[in-house]
Amino acid sequence: YGSIPFMHAHRKNSSVAVFWLNAAETWVDIVKTKPSTNPLALGVSNPRTTHTHWFSESGLLDVFVFLGPNPEALSKNYAELTGYTAMPQRFAIAYHQCRWNYVTDEDVKDVDRKFDRYQIPYDAIWLDIEYTDGKKYFTWDPLTFPDPKGMEEQLDESGRKLVVIIDPHLKNEAGWSIIEELKSKDLAVKDKNGNIYDGWCWPGSSHWIDCFNPAARAWWEEQFKYNKFAGSSHNTFIWNDMNEPSVFNGPETTMPKDNVHYGGWEHRDVHNLNGMTLVNSTFLGLIERKKGEVRRPFVLTRSFYAGSQRFGAMWTGDNQAKWEHLAASLPMVLNQGIAGFPFAGADVGGFFGNPSKELLTRWYQAGIWYPFFRAHAHIDTRRREPYLAGEPYLSIITKAIRLRYQLLPAWYTAFREAAVSGLPIVRPQYYVHPDDEHGFAIDDQLYLGATGILAKPVVTEGATSVDIYISDSEKYFDYFDYTVYQGAGKRHTVAAPLEKIPVLMQAGHIVPRQDRPRRSSELMKWDPYTLLVVLTDAGTAEGTLYIDDGETYDFEKGAYIHRRFIFRDSALTSEDIGTPGAKTAEYLKTMAGVQVEKIVVVNAPADWRDKSAVTVVEDGAKQGRTAPLQYTAGSAGKASYAVVKRPGVDVGRSWRIEF
Ligand code: GLC
Repeated sequence: YGSIPFMHAHRKNSSVAVFWLNAAETWVDIVKTKPSTNPLALGVSNPRTTHTHWFSESGLLDVFVFLGPNPEALSKNYAELTGYTAMPQRFAIAYHQCRWNYVTDEDVKDVDRKFDRYQIPYDAIWLDIEYTDGKKYFTWDPLTFPDPKGMEEQLDESGRKLVVIIDPHLKNEAGWSIIEELKSKDLAVKDKNGNIYDGWCWPGSSHWIDCFNPAARAWWEEQFKYNKFAGSSHNTFIWNDMNEPSVFNGPETTMPKDNVHYGGWEHRDVHNLNGMTLVNSTFLGLIERKKGEVRRPFVLTRSFYAGSQRFGAMWTGDNQAKWEHLAASLPMVLNQGIAGFPFAGADVGGFFGNPSKELLTRWYQAGIWYPFFRAHAHIDTRRREPYLAGEPYLSIITKAIRLRYQLLPAWYTAFREAAVSGLPIVRPQYYVHPDDEHGFAIDDQLYLGATGILAKPVVTEGATSVDIYISDSEKYFDYFDYTVYQGAGKRHTVAAPLEKIPVLMQAGHIVPRQDRPRRSSELMKWDPYTLLVVLTDAGTAEGTLYIDDGETYDFEKGAYIHRRFIFRDSALTSEDIGTPGAKTAEYLKTMAGVQVEKIVVVNAPADWRDKSAVTVVEDGAKQGRTAPLQYTAGSAGKASYAVVKRPGVDVGRSWRIEF
């Protein structure tokens, strides 16, 4: 569905990359040569090498070589060239509930109510192609969706959103205003003879908008205005599918290569770029759908190219409800991260077929680690909303989704990092430990941003444990019960019965969380924070937290909180690492009173055993006050920990807590 012609080459102490900027059909041969001994080399063997050979059918070509020296430098330089991840709305990184199809507006409202009844959080419910009037996008089926606004209003009551599909193939039906305008304004892709190209997709005979044409883009952007797209409102967002483009009766299920785009370009020259041009326009169309109401867009795309990270999220397309497809989703999502487009996910549950309850449960436990976390299912599958799973699956899935919500502050901070520095949101083993050759081939465990959280989702049937590889000699702790794992360059067996997600935390990090279960992320906006401090044996840890309004572009004018938390010399401090702007003060005022409600210190030193209080010193205060501390000694391989409840400090202010 997509192509990012960017390759990282890595060995111990060295990373380089090549970006092959060409949008035509391209092949890359990768040839690994085994070490061989040249008889004339007097027994000196040459090392294993990898050669790649790139060739494209046509089009223009620019080649960029990146000299590293490490994976992070490659990500930063590549992002500087092709663009950074667009900072998403906060809801977009929470849980999405999709299927082909929710069949009526009443059905949507019913699913919405059931999530509440079963106390499962979710942020967006999705409508696939059947919501339209005869597959004419920008319309609603009058019989099944008579009241889209009423449906959106119900969702809005709990801060939830609706995402609807809008594809680029436009039904060739005389009298429909969209197709009439497409034709009369000459905005469609042409065939080789200069006639409007006609092909088959979901609606039957269709024409394709040509978003290489500036006039077509401007027109497309207009279609998303509330007063144009009747029935849409501020909580409606867009899914662009089939934008490769997919053409059922075309060669290789796409457009003939001799079709012609605006400017005289043959489709063969620009095929891989085509999908991005559509998403680009949808993105721009969503920014200001009503004069004065500027919001961050959300668009999901199936087709993508280098640079698509600037517009939204992608998913890996039509997978199957099979264990192998669950397993494949992890390297695919990790790969998107190092290819500069980290806002990625796979259909949770598998698109085709009916997953067993065990597979569905394991898929949720894995899916909470996808930057884009959405369940989706084919129209021929049985319903599988989590509340239908029955016990014990229902409770286990609910727990997994809640873990995603608990860690949303850490996820949002990782997205911020991607948005300003191009770093992946979830990172593979070699990327985090570039000098440990033994970890290079591992692509089934992942790190969440810079949080030190290391997850290895179960992807095999009947598993009761997994082996997690640890590179370094730091201590790692089980996320749930603080069991200690230590030992560099080794695999450590971690129990993983169905109810357990294998997650470790590396010592030396501070992870921000929000612990109160809510119906949606929007309802967590004013909730207090928990700081999870995971100490090294030397008593140090560090972490960051980024917060903004989750919706507007005010963060570009300083309306955000960006803190660094440091634990050293027996004290935890919060310092500002933001750059103040015109809107900083106003934003901080809205966040006044949003507090840190709990500090959990894992690997708490033994000499805290008799401690019962800490001293809290707020910025500018001459005198400290105390807050209670409760220490729990570790046993049976588990680390000691301490909890400070209600230290009474604002998350957006500077303070120091002495232990
Ligand atoms: C494509 C998409 C899938 C969607 C279906 C119907 O197969 O990949 O996600 O459900 O079209 O729109």
